[in-house]
Amino acid sequence: MKVDPALVPFKTLPGGAKMPIIGMGTFGSDSVSADTVASAVYEAAGLGYRHFDCAAVYGNEREIGGALAKIQKEGVRREDLFITSKLWNNKHKEADVVPAFEKSLKDLGLAYLDLYLIHWPFPNHHDPGVDVHARANDAKPFELESYLKVWRKLEDLVDKGLVRNIGTSNMTIAKFEAFLPHARIKPAVNQMELHPHLQQQQLFDYVVKSGIQPVGFCPVGSPGRPERDRTPEDTVDMEDPVVVEIAKKHGVHPVAICLRWAHQRGQIPVPFSVKQTNLLANLKTALGPQLSEAEMSKLSKIDKNCRLVKGQVFLWKDGQTWEDLWDLDGKIKK
Ligand SMILES: NC(=O)c1ccc[n+]([C@@H]2O[C@H](COP(=O)([O-])OP(=O)(O)OC[C@H]3O[C@@H](n4cnc5c(N)ncnc54)[C@H](OP(=O)(O)O)[C@@H]3O)[C@@H](O)[C@H]2O)c1
Repeated sequence: MKVDPALVPFKTLPGGAKMPIIGMGTFGSDSVSADTVASAVYEAAGLGYRHFDCAAVYGNEREIGGALAKIQKEGVRREDLFITSKLWNNKHKEADVVPAFEKSLKDLGLAYLDLYLIHWPFPNHHDPGVDVHARANDAKPFELESYLKVWRKLEDLVDKGLVRNIGTSNMTIAKFEAFLPHARIKPAVNQMELHPHLQQQQLFDYVVKSGIQPVGFCPVGSPGRPERDRTPEDTVDMEDPVVVEIAKKHGVHPVAICLRWAHQRGQIPVPFSVKQTNLLANLKTALGPQLSEAEMSKLSKIDKNCRLVKGQVFLWKDGQTWEDLWDLDGKIKK
Protein backbone atom coordinates (compact mmCIF):
# COMPACT_ATOMS: atom_id res chain seq x y z
CA MET A 1 0.00 0.00 0.00
CA LYS A 2 1.34 3.41 -0.89
CA VAL A 3 2.03 6.30 1.48
CA ASP A 4 -0.03 9.50 1.36
CA PRO A 5 2.64 12.14 0.59
CA ALA A 6 0.73 14.61 2.77
CA LEU A 7 1.57 12.41 5.79
CA VAL A 8 5.33 12.49 5.21
CA PRO A 9 6.78 15.02 7.66
CA PHE A 10 9.02 17.79 6.34
CA LYS A 11 11.75 20.14 7.55
CA THR A 12 11.30 23.84 6.90
CA LEU A 13 14.45 25.35 5.38
CA PRO A 14 15.49 28.92 6.31
CA GLY A 15 13.76 30.40 3.21
CA GLY A 16 10.50 28.61 4.10
CA ALA A 17 10.74 25.66 1.68
CA LYS A 18 9.34 22.36 2.95
CA MET A 19 11.77 19.49 2.45
CA PRO A 20 10.27 16.00 2.98
CA ILE A 21 12.25 14.13 5.66
CA ILE A 22 13.12 11.33 3.25
CA GLY A 23 14.23 11.55 -0.37
CA MET A 24 15.04 8.97 -3.01
CA GLY A 25 18.72 8.82 -3.99
CA THR A 26 19.35 8.46 -7.72
CA PHE A 27 23.01 7.39 -8.02
CA GLY A 28 22.94 4.01 -9.79
CA SER A 29 26.44 3.16 -8.45
CA ASP A 30 27.72 2.70 -12.02
CA SER A 31 25.77 -0.59 -12.22
CA VAL A 32 22.13 0.43 -12.59
CA SER A 33 21.19 2.01 -15.94
CA ALA A 34 19.81 5.53 -16.31
CA ASP A 35 16.51 4.13 -17.59
CA THR A 36 16.18 1.78 -14.63
CA VAL A 37 16.76 4.64 -12.17
CA ALA A 38 14.23 6.80 -14.06
CA SER A 39 11.62 4.02 -13.92
CA ALA A 40 12.28 3.70 -10.19
CA VAL A 41 11.75 7.47 -9.79
CA TYR A 42 8.39 7.17 -11.57
CA GLU A 43 7.39 4.19 -9.38
CA ALA A 44 8.60 5.96 -6.26
CA ALA A 45 6.35 8.94 -6.99
CA GLY A 46 3.43 6.51 -7.29
CA LEU A 47 4.37 5.12 -3.85
CA GLY A 48 4.31 8.62 -2.33
CA TYR A 49 7.86 9.99 -2.71
CA ARG A 50 8.07 13.69 -3.58
CA HIS A 51 11.76 14.37 -2.84
CA PHE A 52 14.46 13.22 -5.31
CA ASP A 53 18.20 13.66 -4.90
CA CYS A 54 19.78 14.05 -8.35
CA ALA A 55 23.18 15.12 -9.71
CA ALA A 56 24.63 15.82 -13.13
CA VAL A 57 27.44 13.31 -12.57
CA TYR A 58 24.98 10.44 -12.04
CA GLY A 59 24.45 10.59 -15.82
CA ASN A 60 20.69 10.09 -15.64
CA GLU A 61 19.09 13.53 -15.27
CA ARG A 62 17.63 13.48 -18.79
CA GLU A 63 15.93 10.13 -18.16
CA ILE A 64 14.76 11.26 -14.71
CA GLY A 65 13.41 14.41 -16.40
CA GLY A 66 11.23 12.14 -18.55
CA ALA A 67 9.92 10.43 -15.40
CA LEU A 68 9.25 13.79 -13.70
CA ALA A 69 7.31 15.01 -16.75
CA LYS A 70 5.13 11.90 -16.66
CA ILE A 71 4.59 12.23 -12.90
CA GLN A 72 3.43 15.84 -13.34
CA LYS A 73 1.28 15.01 -16.35
CA GLU A 74 -0.48 12.43 -14.21
CA GLY A 75 -1.38 15.07 -11.64
CA VAL A 76 1.47 15.70 -9.18
CA ARG A 77 1.91 19.45 -8.87
CA ARG A 78 5.40 20.90 -9.37
CA GLU A 79 5.16 22.72 -6.05
CA ASP A 80 4.69 19.39 -4.28
CA LEU A 81 7.98 18.03 -5.62
CA PHE A 82 11.37 18.73 -4.03
CA ILE A 83 14.15 18.29 -6.59
CA THR A 84 17.85 18.58 -5.83
CA SER A 85 20.74 18.62 -8.30
CA LYS A 86 24.48 19.15 -7.87
CA LEU A 87 27.24 20.98 -9.70
CA TRP A 88 29.96 18.53 -10.75
CA ASN A 89 33.65 19.17 -10.13
CA ASN A 90 34.58 19.87 -13.75
CA LYS A 91 32.19 22.86 -13.82
CA HIS A 92 33.78 25.06 -11.14
CA LYS A 93 35.19 27.64 -13.58
CA GLU A 94 33.20 30.87 -13.27
CA ALA A 95 32.00 30.66 -16.87
CA ASP A 96 30.89 27.03 -16.50
CA VAL A 97 28.65 27.18 -13.42
CA VAL A 98 25.49 28.70 -14.91
CA PRO A 99 25.56 26.60 -18.12
CA ALA A 100 26.03 23.44 -15.99
CA PHE A 101 23.05 24.45 -13.84
CA GLU A 102 20.98 25.23 -16.95
CA LYS A 103 21.80 21.82 -18.39
CA SER A 104 20.58 20.06 -15.24
CA LEU A 105 17.43 22.21 -15.25
CA LYS A 106 16.76 21.42 -18.90
CA ASP A 107 17.54 17.71 -18.53
CA LEU A 108 15.22 17.48 -15.53
CA GLY A 109 12.58 19.39 -17.54
CA LEU A 110 12.01 21.97 -14.82
CA ALA A 111 11.66 25.76 -14.62
CA TYR A 112 13.40 25.91 -11.23
CA LEU A 113 15.21 23.60 -8.80
CA ASP A 114 14.37 23.32 -5.12
CA LEU A 115 18.00 22.83 -4.14
CA TYR A 116 21.36 23.06 -5.92
CA LEU A 117 24.52 21.85 -4.21
CA ILE A 118 28.23 22.16 -4.91
CA HIS A 119 28.90 18.41 -5.07
CA TRP A 120 32.52 18.52 -3.79
CA PRO A 121 34.54 21.48 -2.51
CA PHE A 122 37.33 20.91 -5.08
CA PRO A 123 37.31 21.22 -8.87
CA ASN A 124 38.90 17.76 -9.20
CA HIS A 125 37.14 15.81 -11.90
CA HIS A 126 37.25 12.09 -12.50
CA ASP A 127 35.60 10.17 -15.27
CA PRO A 128 32.72 7.92 -14.26
CA GLY A 129 33.72 4.41 -13.23
CA VAL A 130 37.49 5.00 -12.75
CA ASP A 131 39.31 3.18 -9.93
CA VAL A 132 40.67 4.81 -6.76
CA HIS A 133 44.13 5.40 -8.24
CA ALA A 134 42.86 7.74 -10.98
CA ARG A 135 43.85 11.41 -10.49
CA ALA A 136 43.08 14.54 -12.54
CA ASN A 137 46.33 16.19 -13.78
CA ASP A 138 45.07 19.60 -12.65
CA ALA A 139 43.71 18.43 -9.26
CA LYS A 140 43.97 21.07 -6.49
CA PRO A 141 43.18 21.45 -2.81
CA PHE A 142 40.22 23.54 -1.58
CA GLU A 143 40.80 27.23 -2.28
CA LEU A 144 38.46 29.68 -0.60
CA GLU A 145 38.57 32.29 -3.39
CA SER A 146 37.70 29.75 -6.10
CA TYR A 147 34.94 28.22 -3.98
CA LEU A 148 33.46 31.67 -3.32
CA LYS A 149 33.39 32.43 -7.04
CA VAL A 150 31.27 29.31 -7.55
CA TRP A 151 29.08 30.19 -4.56
CA ARG A 152 28.45 33.74 -5.93
CA LYS A 153 27.08 32.16 -9.11
CA LEU A 154 24.74 29.99 -7.05
CA GLU A 155 23.63 33.09 -5.12
CA ASP A 156 22.84 34.80 -8.47
CA LEU A 157 20.69 31.80 -9.44
CA VAL A 158 18.70 32.28 -6.21
CA ASP A 159 18.29 36.00 -6.99
CA LYS A 160 16.93 35.09 -10.43
CA GLY A 161 14.43 32.63 -8.94
CA LEU A 162 15.97 29.69 -10.79
CA VAL A 163 16.78 27.81 -7.62
CA ARG A 164 15.00 28.10 -4.27
CA ASN A 165 17.83 26.90 -2.00
CA ILE A 166 21.55 26.35 -2.34
CA GLY A 167 23.90 24.21 -0.35
CA THR A 168 27.15 22.37 0.14
CA SER A 169 28.27 18.76 0.15
CA ASN A 170 31.30 16.86 1.44
CA MET A 171 32.45 19.83 3.53
CA THR A 172 34.45 19.89 6.77
CA ILE A 173 34.28 22.21 9.80
CA ALA A 174 37.55 23.87 8.74
CA LYS A 175 36.18 24.64 5.27
CA PHE A 176 32.89 25.93 6.71
CA GLU A 177 34.77 28.20 9.12
CA ALA A 178 36.59 29.75 6.16
CA PHE A 179 33.57 29.93 3.88
CA LEU A 180 30.50 30.79 5.97
CA PRO A 181 31.51 34.36 6.94
CA HIS A 182 31.63 35.23 3.20
CA ALA A 183 28.34 33.66 2.14
CA ARG A 184 25.73 36.35 1.41
CA ILE A 185 23.16 33.55 1.19
CA LYS A 186 23.96 30.89 3.78
CA PRO A 187 23.76 27.26 2.67
CA ALA A 188 20.34 25.82 3.49
CA VAL A 189 21.60 22.24 3.41
CA ASN A 190 24.85 20.31 3.77
CA GLN A 191 24.89 16.85 2.24
CA MET A 192 27.25 14.48 4.08
CA GLU A 193 27.79 10.77 4.52
CA LEU A 194 25.72 9.68 7.53
CA HIS A 195 24.82 6.18 8.73
CA PRO A 196 25.07 4.49 12.14
CA HIS A 197 28.71 3.50 11.48
CA LEU A 198 29.65 7.05 10.36
CA GLN A 199 27.82 9.50 12.59
CA GLN A 200 30.21 12.49 12.17
CA GLN A 201 28.85 13.90 15.44
CA GLN A 202 31.13 16.96 15.54
CA LEU A 203 30.39 18.06 11.98
CA PHE A 204 26.71 17.18 12.40
CA ASP A 205 26.48 19.40 15.52
CA TYR A 206 28.38 22.20 13.79
CA VAL A 207 26.05 22.12 10.77
CA VAL A 208 22.91 22.11 12.94
CA LYS A 209 24.25 24.90 15.14
CA SER A 210 24.92 26.93 11.97
CA GLY A 211 21.24 26.66 10.94
CA ILE A 212 22.04 24.28 8.07
CA GLN A 213 19.91 21.18 7.46
CA PRO A 214 22.03 17.99 7.29
CA VAL A 215 21.12 15.54 4.52
CA GLY A 216 22.61 12.06 4.90
CA PHE A 217 23.93 10.07 1.95
CA CYS A 218 24.66 6.33 2.04
CA PRO A 219 22.06 6.22 4.85
CA VAL A 220 21.80 2.43 4.92
CA GLY A 221 25.53 1.84 4.40
CA SER A 222 25.48 1.72 0.60
CA PRO A 223 25.61 -2.07 0.15
CA GLY A 224 25.54 -1.66 -3.65
CA ARG A 225 28.40 0.86 -3.87
CA PRO A 226 31.01 0.48 -6.60
CA GLU A 227 34.06 -1.73 -6.03
CA ARG A 228 36.31 1.36 -5.87
CA ASP A 229 34.50 2.48 -2.71
CA ARG A 230 35.13 -0.79 -0.83
CA THR A 231 38.03 -1.62 1.49
CA PRO A 232 38.54 -4.70 3.69
CA GLU A 233 38.14 -2.54 6.82
CA ASP A 234 34.63 -1.36 5.89
CA THR A 235 31.91 -2.39 8.32
CA VAL A 236 28.27 -3.21 7.52
CA ASP A 237 25.62 -1.13 9.30
CA MET A 238 22.74 -3.52 8.65
CA GLU A 239 24.69 -6.41 10.21
CA ASP A 240 25.55 -4.51 13.38
CA PRO A 241 24.26 -6.56 16.36
CA VAL A 242 22.63 -3.47 17.93
CA VAL A 243 20.83 -2.57 14.67
CA VAL A 244 19.78 -6.21 14.18
CA GLU A 245 18.51 -6.55 17.76
CA ILE A 246 16.40 -3.36 17.56
CA ALA A 247 15.08 -4.40 14.13
CA LYS A 248 13.99 -7.78 15.53
CA LYS A 249 12.21 -6.10 18.42
CA HIS A 250 10.24 -3.86 16.03
CA GLY A 251 9.71 -6.63 13.45
CA VAL A 252 11.37 -4.61 10.65
CA HIS A 253 14.44 -4.94 8.37
CA PRO A 254 17.70 -3.49 9.81
CA VAL A 255 17.60 -0.89 6.99
CA ALA A 256 14.44 0.57 8.58
CA ILE A 257 16.35 1.09 11.84
CA CYS A 258 19.15 2.97 10.02
CA LEU A 259 16.52 5.25 8.46
CA ARG A 260 14.46 5.69 11.63
CA TRP A 261 17.66 6.60 13.51
CA ALA A 262 18.32 9.23 10.81
CA HIS A 263 14.83 10.76 11.09
CA GLN A 264 14.95 10.96 14.88
CA ARG A 265 18.47 12.36 14.92
CA GLY A 266 17.34 15.11 12.57
CA GLN A 267 19.13 14.46 9.28
CA ILE A 268 17.24 13.82 6.03
CA PRO A 269 18.27 10.46 4.53
CA VAL A 270 18.22 9.91 0.75
CA PRO A 271 18.29 6.10 0.37
CA PHE A 272 18.63 4.62 -3.11
CA SER A 273 16.74 1.62 -4.37
CA VAL A 274 15.28 0.41 -7.63
CA LYS A 275 13.05 -2.20 -5.97
CA GLN A 276 9.46 -1.30 -5.30
CA THR A 277 9.25 -3.20 -1.99
CA ASN A 278 12.42 -1.54 -0.67
CA LEU A 279 11.36 1.91 -1.89
CA LEU A 280 8.05 1.55 -0.09
CA ALA A 281 9.58 0.14 3.11
CA ASN A 282 12.06 3.02 3.17
CA LEU A 283 9.36 5.66 2.67
CA LYS A 284 7.24 4.15 5.44
CA THR A 285 10.05 4.72 7.96
CA ALA A 286 9.14 8.42 7.79
CA LEU A 287 5.90 7.50 9.59
CA GLY A 288 7.37 5.25 12.33
CA PRO A 289 7.93 3.20 14.40
CA GLN A 290 9.44 5.60 16.93
CA LEU A 291 12.64 4.33 18.51
CA SER A 292 12.84 4.74 22.27
CA GLU A 293 15.38 7.02 23.93
CA ALA A 294 17.24 3.92 25.12
CA GLU A 295 17.39 2.56 21.54
CA MET A 296 18.60 5.91 20.18
CA SER A 297 21.23 5.99 22.90
CA LYS A 298 22.42 2.45 22.03
CA LEU A 299 22.63 3.42 18.35
CA SER A 300 24.62 6.55 19.20
CA LYS A 301 27.33 4.26 20.62
CA ILE A 302 27.91 2.06 17.55
CA ASP A 303 29.74 4.70 15.48
CA LYS A 304 32.76 3.04 13.82
CA ASN A 305 33.99 6.12 11.96
CA CYS A 306 33.65 4.00 8.83
CA ARG A 307 33.66 6.34 5.84
CA LEU A 308 32.50 4.55 2.69
CA VAL A 309 32.92 7.36 0.13
CA LYS A 310 36.54 8.14 0.97
CA GLY A 311 37.12 10.29 -2.12
CA GLN A 312 40.64 9.07 -3.08
CA VAL A 313 40.11 10.14 -6.68
CA PHE A 314 40.01 13.79 -5.57
CA LEU A 315 43.51 13.87 -4.03
CA TRP A 316 45.91 16.38 -5.58
CA LYS A 317 49.43 15.35 -4.48
CA ASP A 318 51.46 12.15 -4.59
CA GLY A 319 51.78 10.35 -1.28
CA GLN A 320 48.50 11.62 0.14
CA THR A 321 45.94 9.40 1.84
CA TRP A 322 42.19 9.87 1.62
CA GLU A 323 42.16 11.24 5.19
CA ASP A 324 43.81 14.38 3.75
CA LEU A 325 40.49 15.29 2.10
CA TRP A 326 38.69 15.49 5.42
CA ASP A 327 40.79 18.01 7.42
CA LEU A 328 40.96 15.65 10.41
CA ASP A 329 43.30 17.93 12.38
CA GLY A 330 40.89 20.87 11.97
CA LYS A 331 43.00 22.65 9.33
CA ILE A 332 42.35 22.89 5.60
CA LYS A 333 44.91 20.59 3.96
CA LYS A 334 47.02 22.32 1.34
N1 LIG B 1 26.82 14.08 -2.12
C1 LIG B 1 27.53 13.02 -2.42
O1 LIG B 1 28.75 13.10 -2.62
C2 LIG B 1 26.87 11.68 -2.47
C3 LIG B 1 27.67 10.52 -2.40
C4 LIG B 1 27.03 9.28 -2.44
C5 LIG B 1 25.65 9.19 -2.54
N2 LIG B 1 24.89 10.33 -2.63
C6 LIG B 1 23.39 10.27 -2.73
O2 LIG B 1 22.91 9.42 -1.69
C7 LIG B 1 22.10 8.38 -2.26
C8 LIG B 1 22.16 7.14 -1.41
O3 LIG B 1 23.48 6.62 -1.30
P1 LIG B 1 23.85 5.16 -1.80
O4 LIG B 1 22.96 4.81 -2.93
O5 LIG B 1 25.31 5.10 -2.02
O6 LIG B 1 23.60 4.26 -0.50
P2 LIG B 1 22.36 3.72 0.33
O7 LIG B 1 21.13 4.45 0.02
O8 LIG B 1 22.86 3.66 1.74
O9 LIG B 1 22.27 2.21 -0.18
C9 LIG B 1 21.63 1.85 -1.37
C10 LIG B 1 21.64 0.33 -1.47
O10 LIG B 1 20.88 -0.23 -0.40
C11 LIG B 1 19.94 -1.18 -0.90
N3 LIG B 1 18.68 -0.95 -0.18
C12 LIG B 1 17.96 0.21 -0.14
N4 LIG B 1 16.84 0.03 0.59
C13 LIG B 1 16.87 -1.25 1.03
C14 LIG B 1 15.98 -2.01 1.83
N5 LIG B 1 14.84 -1.48 2.32
N6 LIG B 1 16.30 -3.32 2.08
C15 LIG B 1 17.44 -3.85 1.59
N7 LIG B 1 18.31 -3.19 0.81
C16 LIG B 1 18.04 -1.88 0.54
C17 LIG B 1 19.78 -0.86 -2.36
O11 LIG B 1 19.61 -2.01 -3.13
P3 LIG B 1 18.23 -2.33 -3.93
O12 LIG B 1 18.20 -1.46 -5.14
O13 LIG B 1 18.42 -3.79 -4.21
O14 LIG B 1 17.10 -2.05 -2.99
C18 LIG B 1 21.11 -0.21 -2.75
O15 LIG B 1 22.03 -1.18 -3.20
C19 LIG B 1 22.67 8.22 -3.68
O16 LIG B 1 21.79 7.53 -4.53
C20 LIG B 1 22.89 9.68 -4.04
O17 LIG B 1 21.65 10.28 -4.41
C21 LIG B 1 25.49 11.57 -2.58
